[in-house]
Amino acid sequence: MTAEPIRVSTEWLDLRERADAASRSGELVDELRRHLPARGVLVIHDLACGTGAMGRWLAPLLPGPQHWVVHDRDADLLEVAAVDVPAPAADGSRVAVEARRADITRLDPDELAGATLVTASALLDILTEDELAGLAGLCAGVGCPVLLALSVTGRVRLAPADPLDARVAAAFGAHQRRVTRSGRLLGPDAVPAAVSELRRLGTDVIVRPSPWRLGPDQVDLAAEWLTGWVGAACEQEPGLAPEAAAYAERRLAEARAGELAVTVDHADLLVLP
Ligand SMILES: C[S@@+](CC[C@H](N)C(=O)[O-])C[C@H]1O[C@@H](n2cnc3c(N)ncnc32)[C@H](O)[C@@H]1O
Repeated sequence: MTAEPIRVSTEWLDLRERADAASRSGELVDELRRHLPARGVLVIHDLACGTGAMGRWLAPLLPGPQHWVVHDRDADLLEVAAVDVPAPAADGSRVAVEARRADITRLDPDELAGATLVTASALLDILTEDELAGLAGLCAGVGCPVLLALSVTGRVRLAPADPLDARVAAAFGAHQRRVTRSGRLLGPDAVPAAVSELRRLGTDVIVRPSPWRLGPDQVDLAAEWLTGWVGAACEQEPGLAPEAAAYAERRLAEARAGELAVTVDHADLLVLP
């Protein structure tokens, strides 16, 4: 059992921001625009905002004045989100940010009252089944669109292939589903679990792929991701460590030489009331 919560570093969120922005589904944003009010200030709650990357990506893609309420339990990340605010809206309107320190698994529905949009990014796969059910209930009850971006699906492809890829991937998948003090994490099961729960609660859910495609222009992120991927796999399956050390060295050399392409599949969900 893992002692939780695990903290996410600003450096990691910084490193992944460009890849995240390139991966989130533009098609779902086009659909989302059709479901937002044409007038007035958009009140957008971003749950588990980290350093606020979701707002920096989405705010300039939406028209009209926006008030972003960004929630996270990590005060350090929240501080960055409050300062590194999004660019103006698509039509040049003002975008304001209000930071709230909160555990999003304990939010009272009243805290989202008046929301015109709820968002979250890179969150669902680190929740337990109970936490996801709570979040789905909150999303279904809020009565506005909800955009849940970048949940891992468990599929990873590396090119060129290596005989150890599949074993590392399987051990990493098991690590993502590990038992923590809060319960078993959903990991790659999060997307089907969220879709089924949200549909059961009567919402429409549109799912689109949002894969990370890391090539020679994302060497630093690919190297950091690889190190974390192999490290988590070995933590889960210590017997893998002797072989994995040489594997990691080989793969990192390929990544740094721009000779490795990594695809990490994610999915985005647009939930419509
Ligand atoms: C992988 S990061 C994603 C951050 C941001 N949404 C992004 O896309 O860059 C996950 C974030 O969830 C936050 N988090 C995880 N569980 C949380 C909880 N129960 N309540 C509030 N924040 C939480 C972490 O502090 C972290 O900022």
